[in-house]
Amino acid sequence: MSDLAAPHLLALTAYEPGKPEDELRRELGIDDVVKLASNENPYGPSPRAVEALRAGSLQLERYPDPRGHALREALAGHHGVTAEQLCLGNGSNELIDLICRVFGGRGDHAVFGHPSFPCYRIGSVAQELRFTAVPLRGDLRWNVDDLLDAVTPDTKLLFVSNPNNPTGSYIPKRELGRLLRSLPDRVLAVIDEAYVEYADAEDFAAATELRDARERLAILRTFSKAYGLAALRVGYVIGTAELVFDLNRLRAPFNVGTLGQVAAKAALGDQPHLRRSVEATVRERQRLGEALVATGLRIAPSQGNFVLVDVQRAGRAVYEDLLREGVIVRAMAAPLESWIRVTVGKPEENERFLHALERVLKGSRV
Ligand SMILES: Cc1ncc(COP(=O)(O)O)c(C=O)c1O
Repeated sequence: MSDLAAPHLLALTAYEPGKPEDELRRELGIDDVVKLASNENPYGPSPRAVEALRAGSLQLERYPDPRGHALREALAGHHGVTAEQLCLGNGSNELIDLICRVFGGRGDHAVFGHPSFPCYRIGSVAQELRFTAVPLRGDLRWNVDDLLDAVTPDTKLLFVSNPNNPTGSYIPKRELGRLLRSLPDRVLAVIDEAYVEYADAEDFAAATELRDARERLAILRTFSKAYGLAALRVGYVIGTAELVFDLNRLRAPFNVGTLGQVAAKAALGDQPHLRRSVEATVRERQRLGEALVATGLRIAPSQGNFVLVDVQRAGRAVYEDLLREGVIVRAMAAPLESWIRVTVGKPEENERFLHALERVLKGSRV
């Protein structure tokens, strides 16, 4: 370790992503690998997106459109907002970081849930924000009063992943509306909707339906999950034109590549493909959950494209045993040491996981 890193960053270690398939092939010499670790869409993007990439009219020697005009116009039509209310990012991950850098100053305070997506904490630490990680309730659900109680006079940012990664839990519409209306004016509410397309609970509502409830609101969306374009890194913020103006103060000039812009626009235009792949995943989410419960395991009811399973022993050991079976899932940190998170794959991938898990659990001690 060098002493070059700024002292306030020493509490951070690198974000641990899902293990890439090739890495497991290299490490264990296993050819037949199933990756259910990064909540990707196993059905892939719309063929229209792939076609758009092949069209051949892309000028690779030119920088991308720095403002992503065509994609923002298409998104504006899709969401019923103006293009000025949209800011593109190199995945929504970049936008989380950008929001922290633009709106968070040293001494400000941030609130987010725990366990939740680690990048809210990383972005806050990077900006020397103080933060409160609000524990989800014992049943891994959000509690809006707990979030509101954590807000201090210095709170500037509040991050909510809805549905939440890694629990799959969500804040119902009425409660989300209450949260957005009850936060003090100075707080920017960031509602991260990376998994919104998979949410089908009757009382779920996207924050895009609740924009009237709050002016200081940033809604994060991504093309990495349901749209199946994780490789191309495209996300966006929906907010007020003023919010987007502020984000552009620090946004890197060419942060979203041409291929990403072109493919995302084509994918957005193919809503029937999106619907079909979401429906297939939601069906499998149900089946996978039932199969896990039938084996006596506890799961967290999920509104995302993943399921959190309590394996009732060290989750990391189960994760490692599953790797030897050629199945990559995700081990969880405290307080979820006995849980693993599995992405909902295609039916045959889920079967492979279920059989591997059965073998692993039979062979391991509680
Ligand atoms: C809740 C949540 N937000 C944001 C992201 C980042 O997605 P991307 O940067 O690919 O848009 C993820 C990725 O797993 C996530 O789970």
